[in-house]
Amino acid sequence: MSETVKFSYGGKDFELPIIEGTENEKAIDIAKLRAQTGLITIDPGFKNTGSTTSSITFLDGELGVLRYRGYNIEELAEKSTFLEVAYLLIYGNLPTQSQYEKFTREITTHTLVHEDIKKILEGFPSNAHPMGVLSSLICSQTAFYPDSLNPNRSEDQLTLSIVRLIAKMPTFAAWAYKNKMGHPVNYPDNSLDYCSNFLNMMFALPVEKYEVDPIVAKALDSLLILHADHEQNCSTSTVRLVGSSQASVYASISAGINALWGPLHGGANQSVIEMLEAIKADGGDAKKYLDKAKDKNDPFRLMGFGHRVYKNFDPRAKIIKKAADDVLGKLGVSDPVLDIAKELEYAALNDQYFVERNLYPNVDFYSGIIYRALGIPTDMFTVLFAMGRLPGWIAQWKEMRHNGEPIGRPRQIYTGAVDRNYIPMNKRG
Ligand code: MLT
Repeated sequence: MSETVKFSYGGKDFELPIIEGTENEKAIDIAKLRAQTGLITIDPGFKNTGSTTSSITFLDGELGVLRYRGYNIEELAEKSTFLEVAYLLIYGNLPTQSQYEKFTREITTHTLVHEDIKKILEGFPSNAHPMGVLSSLICSQTAFYPDSLNPNRSEDQLTLSIVRLIAKMPTFAAWAYKNKMGHPVNYPDNSLDYCSNFLNMMFALPVEKYEVDPIVAKALDSLLILHADHEQNCSTSTVRLVGSSQASVYASISAGINALWGPLHGGANQSVIEMLEAIKADGGDAKKYLDKAKDKNDPFRLMGFGHRVYKNFDPRAKIIKKAADDVLGKLGVSDPVLDIAKELEYAALNDQYFVERNLYPNVDFYSGIIYRALGIPTDMFTVLFAMGRLPGWIAQWKEMRHNGEPIGRPRQIYTGAVDRNYIPMNKRG
């Protein structure tokens, strides 16, 4: 008999099963709670509520562990590539040489986008945030590939949609940036690797040759690996929820991009640099802002510190911190904003106020710094987060569909007005 939880309510005794995962995580299965007791549970933000079982990503917030399909993030960041990790997340195992060559070849041959995408781009003003452009362009793929509208059409159709998403995401991202800059777009160059192709589409100009720095391309590839999945975070839960209605994979991913945009989620890396730039503009006194962060009467809060799930440190942050130090050194980057970041980082790692509250630098703090050092414009940081998270979103959407999960439809506890009769307007007080 599996473990159960027993409780009494309304003078009756009840018993619900406990489920246990492969990493010994346990949950009360409440599927029959309402039928047996009339009760539901409530948990705003779902801090104590699991939405699904999943075999894709495991994280341990206390121990700072993050694994994709059982492989530690540290090893993947050091030894793998983003496209190999994308294959691992989506198909469950590391690819053989022939599987990898087929996967990357298909992606390479689908990087080009329909010329009509330019007409959609022309409709956006130059001040359009690239995340809004990106989510629109991804959703527009339902128009260019109407066969994708039925997510249950066939495995071959889903595989083609997956390839198109991964292949075209860098093109859309770079074109969103070019639209903002008022520069002509660059077409994909299929002789380049995934990250070099993106950097070339981003920064090449008709008036000067752009040479991709291999240090920058490698650092970007590692950053994409580190952002590839993170269990049931806000944007991934959004992708699964939208997909549970049997909306297309493009519509589901577009919804995920919009959820990621928020400054409390993927937008945090942009907010980190904006915070650092504001501190610099105010004289660059990091200690002044550290004191403001400690003052409970001061609305200022440090962006890029602490994490909802990791209680001691974010394993991705440790890897990115090393990569940031490495890249800044190799590129010889000197930037007063980054100097301020170093002061804040030192304080957060040594000042008891921050240490006691686990306000350590997180993945967004260091990714904002390294993206800036790589020459990525600030409002493109979250776009890069989306590029990295794409294979995770795809893997989670695919798992939800293949598991035949029902449409997501949470319940509520009603707290509004009770039964009232309609009063004609001329009789209202
Ligand atoms: C993420 O990687 O999605 C962020 O750390 C947010 C989260 O996991 O809640």
